[in-house]
Amino acid sequence: MTDFEINLKKYTDSFNSFLSEKMNYSGFNGRESAGFEKIADAMNYSLGNAGKRIRPVLVMAFCDACSGNSETALYYALAVEMIHTYSLIHDDLPCMDNDDFRRGKPSNHKVYGYANALLAGDGLLTMAFEMIIRSELDYEKNCEAVRALSEAAGPSGMVAGQVMDLDNEDRKLTLDIVRKTDELKTGELIKASCLLGCIAAGANDEMKRAASGYAYSLGLAFQIIDDILDVVGDENTLGKPTGSDEENDKSTYVSLIGLEQAKKLARELTADAVEYADVFGDKGNFIRELANNLLNRNY
Ligand code: IPE
Ligand code: IPE
Ligand code: MG
Ligand code: MG
Ligand code: MG
Repeated sequence: MTDFEINLKKYTDSFNSFLSEKMNYSGFNGRESAGFEKIADAMNYSLGNAGKRIRPVLVMAFCDACSGNSETALYYALAVEMIHTYSLIHDDLPCMDNDDFRRGKPSNHKVYGYANALLAGDGLLTMAFEMIIRSELDYEKNCEAVRALSEAAGPSGMVAGQVMDLDNEDRKLTLDIVRKTDELKTGELIKASCLLGCIAAGANDEMKRAASGYAYSLGLAFQIIDDILDVVGDENTLGKPTGSDEENDKSTYVSLIGLEQAKKLARELTADAVEYADVFGDKGNFIRELANNLLNRNY
């Protein structure tokens, strides 16, 4: 394994064991009910351990890049992954992308039904903010993290992007609209992940600006690669259906400029992200390699 692979495994292993410990709901003693047990099961089903965990890895890696201790950022990492998982559960619903397969298993609504899938998303979204408050970082950091995450995930961030994504179906779009949609539906949460790592570490403004710049470019590149894999990827490797965008008549960079130009753009955006990591000197090595690794992924 390369140093990068070792570090990636270290972050994901540490995150996954933290998640399984917390999702035993040890903090819920006395608060359980039949409803809790059912919805906790549905939430755990999708949180699982089959996701790439890119957002928690970004939280932890930015914390380290800013000379913090990534273990202190685990609650923030869990908060982001909960919001991301809720967005995937809702994204797969029949009223949205109507996809039946996610993270290598039937989608949440195929197992728990439409209403419980909605509620599992609601549960994860709400619980994310409880996780931030449970962190042992100081009050000011937790407040800053709540603000960054709620702005990124809410109606001026990811939710707005999902609204645009659905409005855009069956219409021929301009590249500007596709870019704005991708920035919001995917870029905002990726930006919040990087910023939450900075916040946990007590980073200065220069580092936060570099993190935002990195995240902006990485987020767009990430969605472009996702759209490319929707066309050329393998369903078993991805753990989700391919061809979904075409079926829903979505405009993406791929449908507007073609596979080769979309790949070129993703390469350029990745190069921009890598440049932003300069601010972190040697401590930026991991996030530089992560950007390149995500560019070349097939999963
Ligand atoms: C999928 O995200 C949704 C997008 C924003 C493209 P990921 O590709 O990170 O999904 P998981 O977490 O690995 O399942
Ligand atoms: C998803 O974009 C963005 C969010 C879930 C917020 P996609 O709809 O392309 O994601 P996949 O391909 O279903 O994972
Ligand atoms: Mg979608
Ligand atoms: Mg989708
Ligand atoms: Mg997609």
